[in-house]
Order: sequence, then C-alpha cells, then structure tokens
Amino acid sequence: MLTAEEIQMSAHQLSGTTGLSGTTGLSGPTGLSGTTALVTGASRGFGRSIAIALSQAGASVAGLGRDRDRLADLQAELGAGFTPVVADAADPVAAGQLIDLHRPRVLVLAAGASPLSRPLHQHTWPSFSRTWEVDVQQVFHWTREALLRPLPPGSVVVAFSSGAAVAGSPVSGGYAGAKATIRFISAYAAAESQRGALGIRFVSVLPQLTPATELGAAAVAAYAAREGLDVPAFLATRGPVLTPDQVGKAVLDLVCDPVLSHPSYLLSAAGLSELQ
Ligand SMILES: NC(=O)c1ccc[n+]([C@@H]2O[C@H](COP(=O)([O-])OP(=O)(O)OC[C@H]3O[C@@H](n4cnc5c(N)ncnc54)[C@H](OP(=O)(O)O)[C@@H]3O)[C@@H](O)[C@H]2O)c1
Repeated sequence: MLTAEEIQMSAHQLSGTTGLSGTTGLSGPTGLSGTTALVTGASRGFGRSIAIALSQAGASVAGLGRDRDRLADLQAELGAGFTPVVADAADPVAAGQLIDLHRPRVLVLAAGASPLSRPLHQHTWPSFSRTWEVDVQQVFHWTREALLRPLPPGSVVVAFSSGAAVAGSPVSGGYAGAKATIRFISAYAAAESQRGALGIRFVSVLPQLTPATELGAAAVAAYAAREGLDVPAFLATRGPVLTPDQVGKAVLDLVCDPVLSHPSYLLSAAGLSELQ
C-alpha cells in the first residue's frame, strides 16, 4: 500500500510528464520523451532492465517493487526520471491508485513470485497457488484498471507470461498454469479494447528460462537437479542465455516498433518471435 507521502512525492516528481504528450505516438520521432511508463518488478531482474531501457529512451518511469533499498539504488542510477514506488503488485487498491496517479502510456507487468521448486505431490495448495495469488492477481487487477479508466489511446500494456506457459513447469507448482492464464487475460483485454475502440494495445511476452535473474537461477538449479545435471551441463543443453538487457531492449521494441503488433511473443536470446 502506498503512503500519502509516497503518492505526493510521485505526483511531484512526475508533474508535467504524465499522460498524453502530443500526437507523435510512442513510435514517433520523439521516442518516449514526455511519456510515463509504469513498471512492476522494477527492483531487480527483468523489470529493472526494462525500467532502465524505457528511461534511457526518454520515458519518465515509475518503478514498483517491495524492496525499498533496491528501488533507491535504481533511482540513484537513473536520476529524477525514475520514481520508486514501494507497493505490492497484487494489491488491487495500489493498482487503482497508481493508474489514477500516473496515467501511464506504457504499463509493464513484470513482477512475479518465485515458485517453490518441488514436484506436484510435495506442494501444498498455498505453495502451488503462490504464482496465481501474485502474478495472475497482478495482471488481472492492473489490466482491469487499464480498461476501466481507460488508459489513453495508443497506450501499451505488456504482461509477463513465460515459456513455461507452453512447455509446462513440473517442478514449479502452478507456475505454468498461472502464466498461461496471464496470456489469456492479455488476449481477452485486447479483445475488449478492440470492442470498445479504446486503442490500448495488450501484449504478452513469454521469456525462455534464464539463470540471469534470481527467479530464473532458482528454477534452473531445480530443473538441472531433476535431470541429474549440474547447472553448466543443463544450460549447455539449452542454447544461448537470455539476458535482462535483452529483455529490456525487447520490451522497448515492443512498445515503440509498430511492426511488433502481434498479441503474444516468445522471447529468447535470439529475440522476439510471434506466437499463434
Ligand atoms: N527469469 C526467468 O527465467 C523467467 C522466465 C520466464 C518468465 N519470467 C517472468 O518474468 C518476470 C520477471 O522475473 P525475473 O526473472 O526478473 O524475477 P526476479 O529477478 O526474481 O524479480 C522479480 C521481481 O518481482 C518483484 N515482485 C515479486 N513479488 C512482488 C509483489 N508481490 N509485489 C511487487 N513486486 C513483486 C520483485 O521485487 P520485490 O522483491 O522488491 O518486491 C522483483 O523486482 C516474472 O513474472 C517471471 O515469472 C522469468
């Protein structure tokens, strides 16, 4: 939950930069200058790199996470163009407040809970459903707010699913199902945007598993152990590693490049590829 002080600070830091910024659109000659982006999961991993990429492209970025210190570190790196927001991404009140406050043209839902790495029968229902409670709730609440407000025409909402949504995740509890549902929610929202002529683009991204983040490193270790391999041997079976910098650049491309208008993309070290 945001404190009143944090809301006031955010409003002050972003005054004059929220909402629509002329008629050039996100792919226009001014890039993201004058545009506000809100990124969840910005304290580390993919979300952090996405916040950096959007900031370097000229956006004012509000970055959400629960770790105040890590967000402060990112603010020190990015300067006044970055506003740290300490909040729970799965809190529906925070989603409503922050959409009302920032009116982002770019909304990236990259926060995600790290699943307990155990096979099915070693899960309890709370551990199995953790990613539903965090990741799916987050995408449901923020997507709903984006449609309800609605965000301005030309806005883009990027939701983080996972390659596991296609391949499954046998030692990650309900993770794969949660991520498949996120892809569905994004597609449903795209249909509602079209039906209501809202002009909001919804796109889901399905990254491949990578050891380059905390969440990914834990999963790689678990899947390697399950196959009786050490981590380097496991990774050698999977091709080039996807880096957070590549994810940041891919999201920037999705936001800015009108050619990338498909509803769902796989993301590997080789780049984005359309999903049917
Ligand atoms: N890494 C992979 O291999 C991989 C592959 C496919 C998909 N993904 C997906 O990509 C997204 C980013 O993952 P990552 O690898 O970058 O993970 P990560 O390094 O573990 O970072 C997760 C981020 O989510 C935030 N977060 C978690 N729960 C939160 C909550 N309740 N409220 C607010 N923030 C929360 C964390 O911030 P705080 O701790 O500060 O709250 C952190 O910034 C996730 O949705 C993940 O499922 C990752």
